[in-house]
Amino acid sequence: MKCIVIYESKYGYTKRYASWIAQQLECELREKKTVKAEEMACFDVIIYGGGLYAGGVSGISLITKNPALISEKNVILFTCGLADPSDPENIEHIRTELKKVIPSKIEKNLTIFHLRGGIDYSRLGFVHKSMMAMLCHMMKKKEIDDLRAEDREMLRTYGKEVDFVDVKTAQPIVDCARQFDCCL
Ligand SMILES: Cc1cc2nc3c(=O)[nH]c(=O)nc-3n(C[C@H](O)[C@H](O)[C@H](O)COP(=O)(O)O)c2cc1C
Repeated sequence: MKCIVIYESKYGYTKRYASWIAQQLECELREKKTVKAEEMACFDVIIYGGGLYAGGVSGISLITKNPALISEKNVILFTCGLADPSDPENIEHIRTELKKVIPSKIEKNLTIFHLRGGIDYSRLGFVHKSMMAMLCHMMKKKEIDDLRAEDREMLRTYGKEVDFVDVKTAQPIVDCARQFDCCL
């Protein structure tokens, strides 16, 4: 079985998980922008990881726009966001957004995991900084009880640097890929 880990990572958090997973599985690691969709046909297990941005997974179109190429493959998707994935409310929100973009054709062979990244406001680009400032401004206007857990976390960490990456939390992804006899 041939396995590949593909990722898109704006600030490096997803990349750290993707690199560790590929290292554990001793398989190929590629940044999404270097991958041509047709190349996925050469692999039996495709692991895709992307950072969460406004509820969407960065670069996920590689998976969602090519169902014909990957419908018979084992696809593992992982998200990497600031919101705590141990909170079921956060998972529900991410999954609701994913449902809107994942074609039914690939659902049957798709396994999804959620990992926690981080944020460093001093490194954000202008657009991301402005988006976060606007979001924070909107959140502050709401009653605290009306905020989702991820919004409260965003307000708590606004302007700071936080890093929740713990590569060991990606172990279930490695175990899942090994179930497919990958990279023996
Ligand atoms: C503009 C913006 C929007 C974001 N939206 C979300 C979000 O909807 N949910 C979440 O959990 N984290 C969100 N985050 C946090 C990122 O997902 C987090 O920084 C992640 O670790 C980035 O991973 P990357 O560096 O691999 O791209 C957002 C960050 C920015 C800058």
